[in-house]
Amino acid sequence: MRVIDTSSRMLGIFALVIIITGSLSYGAQHSSSGKNSEPSQQNAVDDLNSRTGPYFDLAASKNVTALLGKTTYLNCRVKNLGNKTSVALQVSWVRHRDIHLLTIGRYTYTSDQRFRAIHNVHSDDWTLQIKFPQLRDSGIYECQVSTTPHMSHFVHLNVVEPTTEILGGPDLYIDHGSTINLTCIVLNSPEPPAYIFWNHNDAIISYDSGRGGVSVVTEKGETTTSFLLVQYATPSDSGQYTCNPSNAQPKSITVHVLNGEYPAAMQHGGQAKQPRLYSLLLCLCLLLY
Ligand SMILES: *[C@@H]1O[C@H](CO)[C@@H](O)[C@H](O)[C@H]1NC(C)=O
Ligand SMILES: *[C@@H]1O[C@H](CO)[C@@H](O)[C@H](O)[C@H]1NC(C)=O
Ligand SMILES: *[C@@H]1O[C@H](CO)[C@@H](O)[C@H](O)[C@H]1NC(C)=O
Repeated sequence: MRVIDTSSRMLGIFALVIIITGSLSYGAQHSSSGKNSEPSQQNAVDDLNSRTGPYFDLAASKNVTALLGKTTYLNCRVKNLGNKTSVALQVSWVRHRDIHLLTIGRYTYTSDQRFRAIHNVHSDDWTLQIKFPQLRDSGIYECQVSTTPHMSHFVHLNVVEPTTEILGGPDLYIDHGSTINLTCIVLNSPEPPAYIFWNHNDAIISYDSGRGGVSVVTEKGETTTSFLLVQYATPSDSGQYTCNPSNAQPKSITVHVLNGEYPAAMQHGGQAKQPRLYSLLLCLCLLLY
C-alpha cells in the first residue's frame, strides 16, 4: 500500500514538474526569439499537424459570380492532401441546397450532365465545372475532404442574368430642337446581343424613315452599349423609347420634348446645381476676407 502511495505521489510530482517546465519553456519560447528554446510538446504536435494535414488554399478557392448560361468553374485547392499516408483522401463537391453529392475525386457522381469533376494529376485543384448555369444553381457548394471528421470549405455561386439599363431614366427632359441621346447598356450578357432594337411608342424605329436625323451606334463587348441619337427633337418625338436587346429584358425611358416650359422635375436636374456652387464659392470668399 505504502509503495503504491509513494509512487503515485512521485508520479504527481513528476507530472507537476513536466507542467512547470512545459510552461517555462513555453514562456521562454515566447519571450525569447524562440530560436534556441525547445518548443513544448503540444506546440510540436500542432506544428506537425499543420505541416502534414491537408488544408484549403482559400485564395484559390473563391466565391464565383457566373453569367447565366455561360460555363463556370468552382475551384477547390487542397494542399498537403497526399501527405496523410495510408488512407487515400478524397475531395468531393456537394450541393448544399439538397445535400446532393456531385463529384468524388475525379468521378462525376451526379446524373445531371451539366456537372463535371476536373482534376489533373499532381495538381492541388479539384474543380467543379457547371455548364449552362441557371439562376437556381446559385447557392452554396461544399468542397469536402474525407478526413475524420470531414473538412469543408464553402463556395458561394451567384448566377446573374443579363440586365438592360437606359441612362438618365425613367424620365428625360429635352429642349425642342436639341438632340435626344439615349444610352442603353446590356450588362452580364455571356455573349454580346446579336442585335438591339429601339422602339418609339411600340413602333420599331427605322433609321431610313422620313423622319431623318436618326442614328444608332452600338458598341459590342463585355458590356454592350447602344446609343440612339435623334436630332432636332420636336414634341412629336416625345413618348416612350424602349431598348430591346436580343438576349436580355427590354428597358424603357420616357422622353419629354419641351416647348420652352420647364416642369418642376427640371429643377432637380443639372442646372439647379450651378447656383448652389456659386453660393458655396461666395461663402468661401466671404470667409477668406
Ligand atoms: C462568399 O460569399 C459569402 C456570402 O456572400 C460570404 O459570407 C463569404 O464571406 C464569401 N467568402 C469569401 C471568401 O469571400
Ligand atoms: C509531406 O509534405 C511535405 C511538405 O509539403 C513534403 O515536403 C513531403 O515530401 C510530403 N511527404 C509525402 C510523403 O508526400
Ligand atoms: C451620348 O451620351 C453618351 C453618354 O452620356 C455619351 O458618351 C456620348 O458621347 C453621347 N453622344 C453624342 C453624340 O452626344
